Amino acid sequence: MTDKLLITGGVSLGGEVRIAGAKNAALPILAGTLLADGKVTLSNVPHLHDVTTTLELLGRMGVTLTIGERMCIEVDAREIKRFSAPYELVKTMRASILMLGPLVGRFGRADISLPGGCAIGARPVNLHLEGLRAMGAEVSLENGYIRARAERLHGARLVLDMVTVTGTENLMMAAALADGETVIENAAREPEVTDLAEFLNGMGARIRGAGTDSIHVAGVERLAGTRYRVLPDRIETGTYLVAAAITGGRILCRDTRPDLLDAVLVKLREAGARIETGPDWIRLDMAGRRPRAVDVYTAPYPAFPTDMQAQLCALNSIAEGVGTVTETVFENRFMHVLEMQRMGADIRLEGNVAVCRGVERLTAAPVMATDLRASAGLVLAGLVAKGETLIDRIYHIDRGYDNIEEKLATLGARVRRISR
Ligand code: EPU
Repeated sequence: MTDKLLITGGVSLGGEVRIAGAKNAALPILAGTLLADGKVTLSNVPHLHDVTTTLELLGRMGVTLTIGERMCIEVDAREIKRFSAPYELVKTMRASILMLGPLVGRFGRADISLPGGCAIGARPVNLHLEGLRAMGAEVSLENGYIRARAERLHGARLVLDMVTVTGTENLMMAAALADGETVIENAAREPEVTDLAEFLNGMGARIRGAGTDSIHVAGVERLAGTRYRVLPDRIETGTYLVAAAITGGRILCRDTRPDLLDAVLVKLREAGARIETGPDWIRLDMAGRRPRAVDVYTAPYPAFPTDMQAQLCALNSIAEGVGTVTETVFENRFMHVLEMQRMGADIRLEGNVAVCRGVERLTAAPVMATDLRASAGLVLAGLVAKGETLIDRIYHIDRGYDNIEEKLATLGARVRRISR
């Protein structure tokens, strides 16, 4: 039995929405609590399936968890009994791979199920494994599991072949307790990497350069407990901004960080939106106009995020003119395009480029969510489609969006969850 989302399109969205903590910061930070020899208290943790899965993984390892009001979570990882992440959980959430670095770094052992492929591409983890090997871990693959063993890791100079977000995070966490200095070159510069580094430094780690492509980690003997507030979700923010832009609406996103959305705001302005920002808010006003099509090229931060690509495809699908969306991060992240075509979108796929000629109006159709951001793109398309769009398999969206239907409903959208 899977939930579906029923959206009746045609309402121009208006109002305020509070942005939750970032999924892609909360997940590595929760994994990072495994490094602490003391209590960690986290606030602004988003209420999401992926967070629940991570808590379940930690619980199975023997970590003590106390969940307070508004997802304020206390984690005590002093007594760990198991050092593994089983397939049944990893297959629902690839980010489980983030347990690898902390477990090997602190306890010298980890057995993590190999994540395998997923709807957006092959997504190998070779760089995570090579980095750990360079730091002295013995890493092998056994029965579908990554088996890593080490006495104490030692510092190393790691030059990553590709920019990898969770790879950088995993290696940074492993290096935090290693003997000596680790340098990660060609590191990911995503704000979530910086947030993790700030969290680890709060526990006593010595990490410099997070947010640049060269991260230096001086290993320490022990990390202590701390309190930390997870940074706001830039992708959730961007998704609501597009929801307003695509419907000709006006929205105020609160508790967010406009400085993390530069590339997205540039494109929304190009599309015709009037945007104002303050320290922790963004107001977007489309004044009832139809957006203009925009060209988008995804790449690692600070360029346009791949996690906003499906949403921009939705915007282009009803925009004035022709827009091209080029995906350079994942090889197969256009599943939403096929579903949007079923709603009447005029999108042509040419390799990793989606060429979209905007139509005046999409028409509702039953569609299928295939991954998290593809689902977000389909929700946005549903908001401007004529009729009732029924989106199946929305468990994908529950993995990464906090209360999406309540938030959209507050903005005036006609949206309903159907459990059958
Ligand atoms: N790659 C390799 N080898 C590796 C690691 C990565 O070839 O060892 C390749 C990947 O196949 C991909 C590219 O490098 O082509 C970049 O992948 P990356 O490792 O950066 O992705 P990730 O760390 O698995 C995180 C986010 C994704 C987001 C990407 C890119 C988390 C938990 N996940 O994934 O978020 O799309 O970075 O920004 O942080 C989402 O939230 O919906 C989501 C998919």
